[in-house]
Amino acid sequence: MSIDFALNPPPDGIEDRANALAGRVLMGGPVALVTTTWRGKSNVVPISWHMPLSSKPSIVGIAIGQERYSAEMVKHAQQFAINIPTRPLLHHVQYLGTLSGEEVDKFEATQLETFGSRTITAPLIVGCCAWIECQVVEAFPIGDHMLFAGLVTAVRVDPASFDDRWLVGDPETRPLHFIAGNRYSTLNGIMEARLPKDYEAPERALRDLIAEELELTREAQERREEAVGELREELRRGHAVDPAALDDLAKSGIEVSPDDLLDLSKGIVLGE
Ligand SMILES: Cc1cc2nc3c(=O)[nH]c(=O)nc-3n(C[C@H](O)[C@H](O)[C@H](O)COP(=O)(O)O)c2cc1C
Repeated sequence: MSIDFALNPPPDGIEDRANALAGRVLMGGPVALVTTTWRGKSNVVPISWHMPLSSKPSIVGIAIGQERYSAEMVKHAQQFAINIPTRPLLHHVQYLGTLSGEEVDKFEATQLETFGSRTITAPLIVGCCAWIECQVVEAFPIGDHMLFAGLVTAVRVDPASFDDRWLVGDPETRPLHFIAGNRYSTLNGIMEARLPKDYEAPERALRDLIAEELELTREAQERREEAVGELREELRRGHAVDPAALDDLAKSGIEVSPDDLLDLSKGIVLGE
């Protein structure tokens, strides 16, 4: 059966956006702190535009605005390290994005702790959960950015965060994902996709799987609302509440940040 996709109308409610927003649509991968050292001076720059480019050999790319001081540094150093910060570095990451290495020594300004890389001269940052050392093999100007392709020369990880993939364990060990502005997120949980078995009619099996997932999501939402409602009522009565009560939900894969849902300033909060 051939389908003429062009004849299908778009789903209701979708809207056009400016072409310039394509970059933001693709954002959401882990934020990176790129470090470099050149002529004895080191710099660190938060970036979210990075990508794997080749697996054999292992090459990754970073895109840095052509006018940025860090683009100059990488051009000269021909090396860089990608450090993946975890949640406790949230405010550092944002602050580093407001400073230019041309004017300030960002390591001095933020007092970030560092340690030595194995194969390059750039420092690596403590409090991160993965570190990739690279030698620049290609550098292309693309529009207003420079794409630096880096041959990977060493990779180190904190196994609390990553073994051969992201673990999405304790929230403090998860990498930060940049959404734009001053907004970040962390991965919320792991879902395993199932494929229809050979003997199942694929379209029916997929439809049933989706229906099952929706039902599970609805139940989870209801449980979460119930738990938050109970805490809210306790706060209203002036009783002490323990936001850790929401931990059980978090363990079952439902992320609950008490600050978002409850006005904790109105009551007595345990564990503060
Ligand atoms: C979370 C975050 C992500 C960013 N991503 C990028 C990026 O992918 N490429 C880029 O050129 N600048 C990016 N920026 C902006 C630079 O980090 C910022 O302009 C920085 O001050 C440049 O420092 P420099 O002058 O030392 O190069 C980002 C900033 C933040 C906070």
